[in-house]
Amino acid sequence: MQIPRLHPDTIEQVKQRADIVEIISEKVVLRKRGKDFQGLCPFHEEKSPSFSVSPHKQMYYCFGCQAGGNVITFLMELEKQSFADVVLNLARRYSIPVQTLEPEQRQELQRQLTLREQLFEILAVTAAFYHHALYQPSGKAALEYLRSERQLNDETIQKFQLGCAPNGWETLYRYLVEQKRFSVQLVEQAGLIRRRKESQINYYDYFRNRVIIPIHDVQGRVIGFGGRTLADEQPKYLNSPETQLFNKGKTLFALDKAKDGISKQDLAVVVEGYFDAIALHAAGITNAVASLGTALSLDQVKLLLRYNESKQLILNFDADKAGNTAAKRAIGEIANLAYRGEIQLRILNLPNGKDADEYLKTYSVTQYENLLHEAPLWLAWQIEQLLEGKDLKQADRYQQVAEEMVKILANIIDDNQLTHYVNQCAERLSIGDSRRIPLISQNLLNQVIQNWKVRSSNDKSLQMPLLVARAIQGNYPQTKPNLRIVKNQTSNPEKVITTQRDDLLKIAEALLLRLYIHCPEQRQNIIHSLENQELEFSFSHHRFLWQQIQEIDINLTSANLISKLQDKAVEFPKQMAQASRLFILDEMAEANLYRAGELIKAAIIRMEQIMCEKQSRQFLALFEKTDSSTDPELQKKYYQEFLNYKQRSMELEQECQVSISDLL
Ligand code: UTP
Ligand code: MN
Repeated sequence: MQIPRLHPDTIEQVKQRADIVEIISEKVVLRKRGKDFQGLCPFHEEKSPSFSVSPHKQMYYCFGCQAGGNVITFLMELEKQSFADVVLNLARRYSIPVQTLEPEQRQELQRQLTLREQLFEILAVTAAFYHHALYQPSGKAALEYLRSERQLNDETIQKFQLGCAPNGWETLYRYLVEQKRFSVQLVEQAGLIRRRKESQINYYDYFRNRVIIPIHDVQGRVIGFGGRTLADEQPKYLNSPETQLFNKGKTLFALDKAKDGISKQDLAVVVEGYFDAIALHAAGITNAVASLGTALSLDQVKLLLRYNESKQLILNFDADKAGNTAAKRAIGEIANLAYRGEIQLRILNLPNGKDADEYLKTYSVTQYENLLHEAPLWLAWQIEQLLEGKDLKQADRYQQVAEEMVKILANIIDDNQLTHYVNQCAERLSIGDSRRIPLISQNLLNQVIQNWKVRSSNDKSLQMPLLVARAIQGNYPQTKPNLRIVKNQTSNPEKVITTQRDDLLKIAEALLLRLYIHCPEQRQNIIHSLENQELEFSFSHHRFLWQQIQEIDINLTSANLISKLQDKAVEFPKQMAQASRLFILDEMAEANLYRAGELIKAAIIRMEQIMCEKQSRQFLALFEKTDSSTDPELQKKYYQEFLNYKQRSMELEQECQVSISDLL
């Protein structure tokens, strides 16, 4: 019997359900090392472990034999089974229902690829149609609305390709289906027309009598539309339904126009409404995007962070609507990123509950920019929100506010931030009596520690502030903890080593980029290796180039990558100045292409080696900072970590036999 073709949903469910650490642990003894697990590689003979498993990435990789992959490839290789057999076994094990792919479905999947292209085309034609309609007699009201009500000039209207959907029932339908000969099914799938309930053959336009705002993807292709009513109808904004191309939760309006601004200013401003983003761009604030009125999702933030090195976001959401809760909801999934310090989140509430569009009608751009610069960090903002309108002189109020403060403080993982905000809260709670601040600080901190203690007893792996960890391990003596921040002292010899290391690192990174650009067949390997070791480019011009590459080379095979990168070099002369030499292959570099695989390995090892060296230095510093009389355990832990990283770094140093320094 022929093996049935499995449905992609089934494969996906299996991948999500089957935990790689759990499965591999059944075959290999794994030990935790940092975020990952390590063990003896089952695919080749070895005495010291070089096989590592990342629960985070759900991948494994062996430094010794370069075997690597996900949970499915692991079982395929180890048990010598086919892909389908592995998936079926896992599905059985986890009781996941198995769906197979009928022949028609198979064809359907293949069609979907070309389908996307056709949908893009229909949407582009439609955007042009709506834009054109704005300048026809039937578009008069809409154009008037944009010019007077929204105070937009023609340049902005062009730039955003704004338009209008005329007031008929079948205007777009006739244009696309009868005139342009697009198939009805495709136009329906593009979310532009709907079938009448009582009829099989009659369709009507989805958008009617609305101002049309095209929504583009990062590459500037139209993927959907927003339509604002011109006649006070409900809903105020009608958006394209979810389609093959349009997923609201993964889209940010105006990102295609904002990404360069975000990169240049290293800061992104997120507003709620289409017209808020448009007004900001019109006023010259070009790093603004809109979230399409929903809570900011993790996917949306990840999109933004690709362009933003220091991970700074300012949310400018309406304050009046539901005040605090609106912003909390908006922040939704990204709160944890902020608490872990992975993003720097600031909140801007404009006076009188205005949105950006309204604000800019009365105030100047400079005034808006000043408010942006003053926007408080999210934590500080939350604390201020708690205090708003509360009379702390009333005992019950005071108690309630203090409790809420502890809840906020107990999310902070960074020591310096924790002490900073504890003090800020204490200061606010002291109601002007500064003698009480130390005592209140101490109380707050005790409660925060208590809170962590409860949570960490359920979850041993919980990452917590050092200060708290010490207090819990040392059975917190109720005395004032040492909140001193020790400054890093850099002695001269160390500095010399660091500079040499930086040069090596720069060479390794440049080598990888050059190989990526010139050897399409190695691209998968490079991405794979970087991801496996969780390595990132450290130098900002390398990061910038990498970001451009990833944007252009989505399917890893672009043949004309160099010419596209050269366009980018014209567009961003400053950021790309140093990168351009990587586009050229001199004789020596060319001669080395035949051993690209070996060089990639060498560069990756060098990058990892330097990373381990940095880590070991950090743990050494922590070790030196820790007091052995009060914290012997912690001190021991740091020393152990230092040794681990040092040893790994030395091992890797040994492996750096291929000298890459004379190659560039
Ligand atoms: P708001 O209702 O806050 O209005 O919607 P706004 O953008 O200030 O609208 P104007 O200024 O009165 O025109 C914010 C965003 O939420 C989404 C839209 O993206 C809108 O820009 N939204 C709002 C919808 O998708 N549907 C709606 O019915 C309302
Ligand atoms: Mn508005």
